[in-house]
Amino acid sequence: MRAIRIGLLGCGVVGQGILRLLREHAGSLERRLGAPIEVRRVVAKTEGKARSYVAPELLSYDPETVLGDPEIDVVVEVIGGLDPAGRYVRTALERGKSVVTANKFLLAEEGHALFELAEERGADLYFEAAVCGGIPVIRVLREALVADSVVAVRGIVNGTSNYILSRMQSEQIDYGVALAAAQEAGYAEADPTLDVNGGDATHKLTILATLAFGAKLLPSHVTTEGIEHITAIDMKMAERFGYVIKLLATARSLPVGMLDLRVHPALVPKTSVLASIHGALNAVYLEGAMLGPSLLSGYGAGAMPTAMSVVSDLVDVGRNILRDSRGRVPQRTVPSGMLLRREVQPAGMHVSPYYLRFAVMDRPNVIAKIASVLGAFDIAIHQMIQEARASGPKAPVHVVVLTHPTRDDALRSALREIQMLSGIVEPPRAIRIETAA
Ligand code: HSE
Repeated sequence: MRAIRIGLLGCGVVGQGILRLLREHAGSLERRLGAPIEVRRVVAKTEGKARSYVAPELLSYDPETVLGDPEIDVVVEVIGGLDPAGRYVRTALERGKSVVTANKFLLAEEGHALFELAEERGADLYFEAAVCGGIPVIRVLREALVADSVVAVRGIVNGTSNYILSRMQSEQIDYGVALAAAQEAGYAEADPTLDVNGGDATHKLTILATLAFGAKLLPSHVTTEGIEHITAIDMKMAERFGYVIKLLATARSLPVGMLDLRVHPALVPKTSVLASIHGALNAVYLEGAMLGPSLLSGYGAGAMPTAMSVVSDLVDVGRNILRDSRGRVPQRTVPSGMLLRREVQPAGMHVSPYYLRFAVMDRPNVIAKIASVLGAFDIAIHQMIQEARASGPKAPVHVVVLTHPTRDDALRSALREIQMLSGIVEPPRAIRIETAA
C-alpha cells in the first residue's frame, strides 16, 4: 500500500503535538485514510534542543531536505510568521507539493497569491489549524454551509487574550502575570504582541470573512484594537453594570452591501453565551440566512487541539492524493478567481453603545462639562456612576458613563474635546458594548 509521505517544517509545541498524534493514532488514521502516514523528515530551527516524539535520524536543520525531496507528498508548515515560512510554503507549492499549514499570519497577509499558486500547480493548501486551533470552523464554512449565505461571523478567536481577560476577571491578577501564564501554557504566539494587540484575531477574522462572504479581503480592511489598555478597574466597573470584557471579532454583511469587519475589546452581557467562554477556549457564532445562528466552541490554542486539526487536514489531503482529486473542494469556498471585491464600512460609521471611563478630579462642575461635550455631539447618556473617593482630595476618581448607541466618529471627536478639559487627569477610555453577543 502506498504511504502518504510528509515532511514537517517546525518542531515546536505544535510540531511535537503532530508527531505524538501521528504515533498514538497511527492505526485509526491508516484505517480512515486507507494508507499509512509516514513522517520522512522533521526540520527544526535550533540544534541541540530536547524534543519528544521525533526519531533522531529524521531530524534535520535544513528545509531543503523536505522541499527538495521528490518522495515527499505533503509539507506541513508549523513554523509561523511570514518569513521564512512563506518562502518555504511558496517553494513547496511551486514544486507541486500539497501543503498543510497552521499559519494564519501568512494566509491572511499573502494567502491570495499562495492559493492562486496552489490552484495553478494542482496542489492542495489546507489550513484548518490556522483559525481557532481545534475547532473545525473552516470545514463548516467551506463544506457544511456551502448551500447557505452567511450574514455574520462573531466570536472569540484568540485564546491568549481570552485567557488573560478571564484570569484578570476571576482572580483580579495583573495583566502581566496573566500574560506570562498564557505563554507558559503554550497558547501565546512566539511574539505575544500579536495576541494582545488584536493582530492574531484580525488575521483569523480576515480568513473567516474571506470564506464566509467569498470576498477578497486583507487584514488592513479590519478595524483593530487590542486589550493592552484594559485594566482591573474596567473589569470591575463592567461587572457593576452586568457585563464582562472580551476581545471580540466580528464580520457582518450589512444590508447596504458593505462589510463590517472589527476586532476590539467589548463589554458583553454577563448572561450571554460568549461571556461564559473562559480561558483558552474560543467560540464562533455563524449566522446563515437559511440556517439561522449556530455556535462552535472548543480549544482555539494549545498543542493537541491544533495538532488534531493539522492531522485531520493531512487525512483530507492524503485522500485527494490517493484518488487523484486534488483541488476538488475549493479551499476558500470558491476558486480564487471567483472571490468578490466588497466595500468595507469605515470604522467611524459604526454605531454602538459605549462604556466610557474618565479619571477626574473630584470637584464641582467636572461632570457637567463632560455631559455638555457629549450632548454637543448628540451622544446620550444611558447610565452613569462615580466611585467614592478612596484617598485625599488630590486623588482622581473614576466616572463611568454608558451611552446610548452612537457613531464611532462622533464619539472620538467628543473624547478629544473632553481630554482637553481641566479636571480630566488621564485620556478617557472607550470600549464598545455588544448586546448581540
Ligand atoms: N496564539 C494563538 C491564540 C494560538 O492564542 O489563540 C492559536 O492560533
